[in-house]
Formats: sequence, C-alpha cells, structure tokens
Amino acid sequence: MTRGTNGYNILVLPGDGIGPEIIKEALKVLDKVSQAFGTRFDFTEALCGGVAIDREGAPVSRRTMKLAEEADAILLGAVGGPKWDNLPTEKRPEKGLLDLRIDLDMYANLRPVKVYEPLANASTLKREVVHGIDMIVVREAVSGLYFGQPRGVKKTAEGREGFNTMRYTDKEIERIVRFGFELAMKRRRKLTSVDKANVLETMALWREVVQEVAKDFPKVELDHQFVDNASMQLIRNPSQFDVLVTGNMFGDILSDEASMLTGSIGMLASASVGGKSAMFEPVHGSAPDIAGQGVANPIAMILSAAMMLEMICRSPEASQAVNRAVEEVLDEGYRTPDLLATLIDHKTFSLSDTVWNEAGDAVKIVSCSEMGRLIADRVRVS
Ligand code: IPM
Ligand code: MG
Repeated sequence: MTRGTNGYNILVLPGDGIGPEIIKEALKVLDKVSQAFGTRFDFTEALCGGVAIDREGAPVSRRTMKLAEEADAILLGAVGGPKWDNLPTEKRPEKGLLDLRIDLDMYANLRPVKVYEPLANASTLKREVVHGIDMIVVREAVSGLYFGQPRGVKKTAEGREGFNTMRYTDKEIERIVRFGFELAMKRRRKLTSVDKANVLETMALWREVVQEVAKDFPKVELDHQFVDNASMQLIRNPSQFDVLVTGNMFGDILSDEASMLTGSIGMLASASVGGKSAMFEPVHGSAPDIAGQGVANPIAMILSAAMMLEMICRSPEASQAVNRAVEEVLDEGYRTPDLLATLIDHKTFSLSDTVWNEAGDAVKIVSCSEMGRLIADRVRVS
C-alpha cells in the first residue's frame, strides 16, 4: 500500500462476514489508483461491528470513533452476523454503524442505482424495464424512526409492548431535501420525494418542507409519491426516477428493493456525507452465509471506494477510471456467483466455470479476489 505523508487519511473498518474479503479488493484497486494517478492514501485499520464487540467490548470503541472523526474518509465493509443476533438492539454490531452515522452527523446517505448493460439480463425484471436505469436514492440517515425517542419494550398489564418513534424536525427535513434538489440540479433535474403524508403527521410535515424548499429550485421537476406507491413504481417503471429523496426507514427499504434492478445487491455502493467525516460502504450486509468462501461480490465495495475518490479525494478521473474498469470486466463476461443467481442454481457450478446466461453469452465465474484483481488491472489513465 502507498503510505506516506500528506496522503488522504482513510480509516478502514473491514467489519464482519464478507466485510474483510471485499475491503481487501477495494484496497487492491486503490493501490492501483495510487500507482496510476499518484493519489496518496494513509490507511489506518480498526475494528467495527461484531468483531469489535468480541475484542474491544463495544461495536465502535472510543478510540475507533476518534480515528473516524480525524479521518478524511472511512471505508466500511459490513457488520453483523448470527453470533451476535441475540444481543439487545443497543449492543448489536449494527449499533456500530449507526453510531458512526449519528456521532459524525453523516445525514446524507447516497445510494446510486445504475444498471450496467451486460447485467441487464441478470435482473429478475425484464431487460426492457431495467435497461439504462441510472438513479440515486438520497436517504436521510441520522433521524426518523431509527433514532426517535421514546423507544423500547415495556411491560403493561396486558403483556409486553414495543414502541419506536418516527420524528423529524423541519431543519432535519430541509437539509436532506436541499441536498436532494442540489443533486438533481447536477443530474436530470427530476426529484421524487417519498413520504407517507396521507397517514403520518411527521410525513405531512416532510411534504410541506419539500414544497417550501422547492421554491428555491424552480428548474427541478418535483414529484411526491407515497411510499407504497413508490415501491410499486420502482418495479413497474423505474426509469421515471432520477433522484429519490426520502427518510431513514423508507430509504433503507427502497434501496434494497432498487438494488434488484441492477441484478444483485452486490452492485450497490453508498456514501454517507454531510457531517464531520464521510463514510463509504456497500449497501449490502455481511452475508454470513457465504463469508470465508471467496465468492462475495466486491463490486459494491469497489464502487464505494470510487465514490470516495470523487467526493473526498477530488479525483473524478480516478473515480471514472474505476467505474470504467468495472464496466470493462462485466463486458468481458466476468461474474461473481451472485450475478448469476437468477439464471442458474447456485449448486450447479463452481468457480472458474464458464456458463451461458439467458442471452446466450458465455460468462466466466470468478472469485472475490479474482474480481478485485481483474478490476484493479483495468484501472488506467485514459
Ligand atoms: C443499511 C443497513 C443498515 C441500516 C443496518 C445494517 C443497520 O441495512 O445500511 O441499509 O438499516 O441502515
Ligand atoms: Mg439496509
């Protein structure tokens, strides 16, 4: 790895499950970026999630939080796993991720959903429906139902009662919505705000604030959708979306749904920005069922690193070079197993097999580390 002075100070949190495997591939690609573009990185590795609970007694230790605050950016693999599933919400690995988001006030969680042409057949939806999709989910990430008080489980005369609170202040809504509008201005100038204003007061306020902010962006075409309708529209006619802005809970759900347009959740990158630091992580989880087998798809992690190159390292050329490398590798027919899941039964092939997809193209099945290497090899100054 390139280490040295004046490099970007990157905190690396591999986490649990497939986290360490995919992080390794992202670092491979960043190493190639250093060589090709001269970008310098100073990497510091620390623990987060279940592994941090086991070794440091908390999903994010104070020391790690301090490193996160001081870093220019954080690269996070994934957290969680069955080993820690019975812990209370407050002590779970996921709390580490949520603590990072909230303590560093990284309120804007950006999740691009792009369909790569060679993967248009890998989606469970028809090629004509997903072809050319290029949208971005802007999810509010430090408030809403995830963090509202009161929360908990209490005993009542009738039994136990669980409760959470969905709350948003007008300021919290305004800053994320403004973020969405500004992003839309740089893209196709279409913003869809997703709420549930017909039932929830918090969401009626959401819509009111969106309408207020909209006055500052007359060039952006604005559309409001209720979340149930939006979830249908995403699979009915996803090409209507450019920027989709929504709250924490709805954004979590809709981004997983949207990932299916791309063929695999293993393709979805994310950036959490707006606060004291910036964090780049795949949208998917730690996938304990495939951890350690070398079959994870590192592309979401690699594309998250590409977002970091653009947003933090101010190196759009390097970011584009990584994106192009991913496209080339997919064009050449290389696939991790998740990118074939809708076509053939998982058990009927092994790594290095060549199989034929529905379109009749020969595709080559590769491991996590081969995919990382193939992408790194194709990163170059154009
Ligand atoms: C995500 C994840 C997290 C979330 C979990 C792991 C806490 O699902 O980033 O989408 O719910 O935000
Ligand atoms: Mg999620």
